[in-house]
Amino acid sequence: TTIKLEDYQPPAYRIETANLNVLLDPTATLVIAELKVVRQPDTKPGAPLILDGDNLKLLSIAVDGAPLQSNAYDVTPSALELTPPTGDTFTLTITTELNPDANTQLMGLYRSSGTYCTQCEADGFRRITYFPDRPDVLSVYTVRLEAPRDACPVLLSNGNLIKTGLVPDTDRHFAIWHDPHPKPAYLFALVAGDLAKITDNFTTASGNPVELNIFVEHGKEALCDWAMDSLKRSMRWDEEAFGREYDLDVFNIVAVSDFNMGAMENKGLNIFNDKYVLADPETATDQDYANIEAVIAHEYFHNWTGNRITCRDWFQLCLKEGLTVFRDQEFSADMRSRPVKRIADVKLLKMHQFPEDAGPLAHPVRPRSYQEINNFYTATIYEKGAEVVRMLQTLLGEDGFRSGLDLYFDRHDGEATTIEAFLKCFEDATGSDLDQFALWYEQAGTPLVSVNTAHNPKDNSFKLTLSQEIPPLPGQQSAKAAVIPLRFGLLGPDGQDLEITTGDSTKVTGDVILLKRPAQTITFQNVPDAPKVSLLRGFSAPVRLTQDQSADDLAFLAKHDSDPYNRWQAVQTLATQTLLARTEAVRRKVAFASAADLVAVLQTVLEDDRLDPALKAQALTLPSETDTAQDIGNNVDPDAIHTARTRLIAEIADELQPLLLPLARDYAKDSAFSPDAASAGKRALSNRALHYHAHSSNPGAVALVNDRFENANNMTDRIMALTLLVHHGFEGAMDALQAFRSRHATSALAMDKWFAARATAPRDETLQVVQDLIADPLYEPSNPNRVRAVLHSFATGNPTQFSRADGKGFNLIAESVLQIDKRNPQVASRLLTSFRSWRALEGRRSSLAESALLRVSSSEELSRDCRDIVDRTLQ
Ligand code: ARG
Ligand code: ZN
Repeated sequence: TTIKLEDYQPPAYRIETANLNVLLDPTATLVIAELKVVRQPDTKPGAPLILDGDNLKLLSIAVDGAPLQSNAYDVTPSALELTPPTGDTFTLTITTELNPDANTQLMGLYRSSGTYCTQCEADGFRRITYFPDRPDVLSVYTVRLEAPRDACPVLLSNGNLIKTGLVPDTDRHFAIWHDPHPKPAYLFALVAGDLAKITDNFTTASGNPVELNIFVEHGKEALCDWAMDSLKRSMRWDEEAFGREYDLDVFNIVAVSDFNMGAMENKGLNIFNDKYVLADPETATDQDYANIEAVIAHEYFHNWTGNRITCRDWFQLCLKEGLTVFRDQEFSADMRSRPVKRIADVKLLKMHQFPEDAGPLAHPVRPRSYQEINNFYTATIYEKGAEVVRMLQTLLGEDGFRSGLDLYFDRHDGEATTIEAFLKCFEDATGSDLDQFALWYEQAGTPLVSVNTAHNPKDNSFKLTLSQEIPPLPGQQSAKAAVIPLRFGLLGPDGQDLEITTGDSTKVTGDVILLKRPAQTITFQNVPDAPKVSLLRGFSAPVRLTQDQSADDLAFLAKHDSDPYNRWQAVQTLATQTLLARTEAVRRKVAFASAADLVAVLQTVLEDDRLDPALKAQALTLPSETDTAQDIGNNVDPDAIHTARTRLIAEIADELQPLLLPLARDYAKDSAFSPDAASAGKRALSNRALHYHAHSSNPGAVALVNDRFENANNMTDRIMALTLLVHHGFEGAMDALQAFRSRHATSALAMDKWFAARATAPRDETLQVVQDLIADPLYEPSNPNRVRAVLHSFATGNPTQFSRADGKGFNLIAESVLQIDKRNPQVASRLLTSFRSWRALEGRRSSLAESALLRVSSSEELSRDCRDIVDRTLQ
């Protein structure tokens, strides 16, 4: 069944209060739900009440205390329908029985390493009790948890703790939690188990004390300090940057090892994939530290953008996710280097969202229909959704944006609302008209912006002609022109930004060009020399740019642009041009053109003292093979890209050896480790240099990489060296794998990196290695992180082997999807999306990918999750 936005109907009944009594048991948990049901004014008295369920076992049901006979209602595992009393309100008491141990989907109530936990977004609450499981039904929850004292000393739910006690004459105890803030069912959570905790506290700007706890498995307490520190910084930052304070007495975080996604913002009780909580130098990379900081912030920020103000329906998912990603990006930018963070975010967008938006799984930031909502937790909703919010800020200015957001918090606090209502706040606060802007939520596809320039030395004028177009997509043959804010500058011969003079203020405000029509021309005056155009500064809109830029232009921008993002972009564009030309040369078996231009630019970068090491590391990272495949667009041969890119890296490594080798040798083996951004930047640069060096013809490379592996005092350096040893098949690789494995055998998160390093080796034997990894005693098919470390890493991080010309990579993933789907459809369907660019491959590979997809499609037991993805991918 297809669910459509246009079919939205407000709920017929609301649940004012939900009192849950949960008697925990590994295989027979009882949930007694006492719901105060309120008929809505537009609902006829006695109109049927339909509650959602999923795989539920009903034990009993009563209305206003009177048990219902079984002929008084209709029940299936997926719905409960009854004719209620005709009064305005009544109490429904429903008892269901659950089997947490049998819950392998990790949706609803399940156990992870013995700990009871829940995941209810998007529609997992209906696996706990029959309920109107939709985000526009907000209820006040009181939750009583009961469990054996020794197995579950910790009992947690949302809100504030009201009472604890022993259950007389048993080995059991209980806790009662009350959450005063009405919330949708998807924000419900409970946790019960034998967990350790670290505690801290925070005083809000208004002076309210908040107790902060992070719960983890015993023995992992020491790994929580960074997460706690990140939490406190997030809480302060949200007060300072957006005036948002926390609103309960306690904020609890629980880390579990089996989790489908990253983390979940349940009110007052965030539940995390432990990958985004646990860190120490021994097991976490700098990237892990940055991710933890960002995800802790993201979930915390949801308290306002998501929880206090939630979504009316799941089509509005970007209302909370896009906005919250924008907020966590801003937080990280303030905590670290803003340009470095921006570059990282744009790289991620281009890597994950652009291909999604160009293929069969493309959808608008606000979709209009879906089969399975869990398939819409996508890069488009999250990352493009954040870019749309960022554009709003660019269009309205920081103050206008902030006043619109303040109005949103004011006007919609306590509501479940929509994108329209959100945009209206910005219109009302600033007097602007956002009708055309709203198209960003409606249309899929990445706009392509083309640029033409003409300089006239006779009257010192400069004409910039811009046009936009969204290429046709399945279900979207044509698209309307969007409002595209293009931050820009014109550089004079000295590399300085020119003063902008133009007659037309509707097209240019400050340093932003507003491209609103399919094409428009802007004429600038007082431009004596043809300027260099720096367009899309800071990546001010999620578009692709086609612009004729010579290597000289790009080198000039790479050196002089006042916008650090565009300096980086200029290097990338030059590298892309080189990679595309060389990939073509590999396929035609002709000689390569020289890479001298690129080498010269990289040399300038390396020698520039104004650039911080993290930025240098980013500039020295060539576009990935996946990026290059996307730029080629069709008839893609991943082997040709790999050959071209690997040889280019080797050439750069040899040419720039005098600069790179000292950097590669210079790493922090003796100094104490610190995860701060500046230290991480130095490691990133040194590791980038080591990466080049490993590709060079220098006979000392193997020894240097082995040396780094053996002497590393942190995971960033160690895993980089291990990955290089394995990917290059260097002497010492096998010993290093063994050494790493013995050293980290007890850290699942560290071992995930070991699995991923092996699964991503661009080598023919990797197919067999992956099969061996799946058979490894440390492989755990029930642990999503481990499955992703092997199979996702292979399918998305190893283009030559996933897209092998013999089709065996596709078959391996298709087979795995079918296996995993029986246990956990969400993990399976996520893995299946790795086929999304299959049509862009060259003929032989694309037909092999299609056969693998057809094989998945022909399975009769496919989950709704996988059915949806495979159908759309093949359409
Ligand atoms: N709201 C969570 C976050 O953005 C993601 C939860 C998604 N879960 C799911 N089963 N679809 O942090
Ligand atoms: Zn989120």
